[in-house]
Amino acid sequence: MKKAFFILGVCAVLSACGGSAGSKGGSDSSAAKADADTVVAKTGAEAAGGSAGSAAGEKLLAANDCGTCHKVDTKVIGPAFQDIAKKYDASEANIDMLTKKVIAGGSGNWGTMAMTAHPGLAEADAKEIVKYILSLKK
Ligand code: HEC
Repeated sequence: MKKAFFILGVCAVLSACGGSAGSKGGSDSSAAKADADTVVAKTGAEAAGGSAGSAAGEKLLAANDCGTCHKVDTKVIGPAFQDIAKKYDASEANIDMLTKKVIAGGSGNWGTMAMTAHPGLAEADAKEIVKYILSLKK
């Protein structure tokens, strides 16, 4: 019961659940919870970069090791994602170049520290991640 209140509270605050839950016509609690999760995830992306970006890219990013070396707004071992977004326009050429760089790894654009290669990452997935990163521009 408390949990239901919490979810309703989140929905009320964000005032974003009503529409999507209503359009699905379902009001069982698991659907409501799924909606709440989506809303929370979206809010995270918005808080981080002011744009919802690519939700798929955000998930893929979380599922890979990128967070070990990158954070959205601060440099760790690799540059902050917001700095990457500032440096590159979201043009096809840049997206392609960065997609290849994420898969191949390497250094030189930000310093001498190298990014590890990600040979197991599919090109389409890497591209989604890169699009998401470039959407984080402030
Ligand atoms: C071992 C630490 C490490 C990991 C893990 C890592 N990175 Fe990096 N990343 C770096 C470093 C260091 C750089 C700067 C490379 C340079 O100077 O060219 C970088 C640069 C980048 C760039 C900018 C490339 C450029 O040429 O400007 C992107 C985009 C990027 N990383 C995305 C990712 C993604 C996506 C993942 C997960 C799949 C990831 N990184 C995982 C360390 C890491």
